[in-house]
Amino acid sequence: MRNQYYHAHIDRIIEHRANVRSFIFDTGELNLDSSPGQFVMVWLPGVGEKPFSLSNSFRIAVKNVGPFTEKLFEKKGGYLDIRGPYGRGFPNIGKNTAIGGGVGIAPLMHLLYLGNLATGFVLAGKTKEDLIFLEDIVRRFEGNYVTDYSSKNVVCVTEDGSYGIKGIATDASIPKADHNYYVCGPEGMMEGVAEKLVNEGVGSERIYLSLERYMKCGAGICGSCSFSGYRVCADGPVFRYDKIKDLPHFNEWKRSRTGELVEI
Ligand SMILES: Cc1cc2nc3c(=O)[nH]c(=O)nc-3n(C[C@H](O)[C@H](O)[C@H](O)COP(=O)(O)OP(=O)(O)OC[C@H]3O[C@@H](n4cnc5c(N)ncnc54)[C@H](O)[C@@H]3O)c2cc1C
Ligand code: FES
Repeated sequence: MRNQYYHAHIDRIIEHRANVRSFIFDTGELNLDSSPGQFVMVWLPGVGEKPFSLSNSFRIAVKNVGPFTEKLFEKKGGYLDIRGPYGRGFPNIGKNTAIGGGVGIAPLMHLLYLGNLATGFVLAGKTKEDLIFLEDIVRRFEGNYVTDYSSKNVVCVTEDGSYGIKGIATDASIPKADHNYYVCGPEGMMEGVAEKLVNEGVGSERIYLSLERYMKCGAGICGSCSFSGYRVCADGPVFRYDKIKDLPHFNEWKRSRTGELVEI
């Protein structure tokens, strides 16, 4: 079933900012039954196929960064061919703290949409515009009638100081988690956050990071997402920090489209 393509009808497109959009599919035709941190492969005939994390079982958020996503942004409705869900996501237990950078906030939304698996949320970005889902996140923590979009459980940090604390993710005071810390964003940011948590006494086995590597099959077959002996698509994309922190590829090397190792 996992390799089955769904001809998924786009029910709605939400523009979070000029270069970030959510594509929401009709649930009637689609039942991906995914867990937080899993992803789908989106196929645009004649263009290619690329991985995107699920913000819930019928929704992806896409940042327009290159040729594929540019083409995806031409969609105003209609259908998308997708297959999945793939990968191992975040452990589906207890109350956790989510820490997201930029479009990395989107996969962590799955924790909230699934039933409040997050009790704390850190959103980090260059500017306020990058803090996608902010209103939705605060509403989920504070109830439906929030007007000022602030919450003690939601910490915002922006590099230009346009919202929340001025700085980067590691400058944030991270809300304590009963269970785990789930981090998604640029690899350097994730390593910095993990190191900060460890310095604050959190065991590295309680920290989970979602990695990105170049993917072709998305299903553990081709090896293009190889990462120090792991296949990110099948063994990850979510990895426990203690398992990867000393691996040579972590925050150092990734593979290009042709398989060459290039510095991150
Ligand atoms: C597991 C996983 C989940 C992802 N989830 C999201 C998401 O929720 N939202 C989102 O906007 N993006 C997500 N991405 C990244 C997304 O797949 C790439 O940004 C997209 O493929 C870029 O394609 P492009 O042709 O538009 O740009 P390109 O010009 O091809 O690439 C721009 C950048 O994206 C990287 N990239 C390109 N193709 C891939 C690929 N197949 N796999 C990994 N990295 C690639 C390149 O190294 C480059 O740095 C995810 C990637 C992975 C591996
Ligand atoms: S993308 Fe093919 S093995 Fe991971």
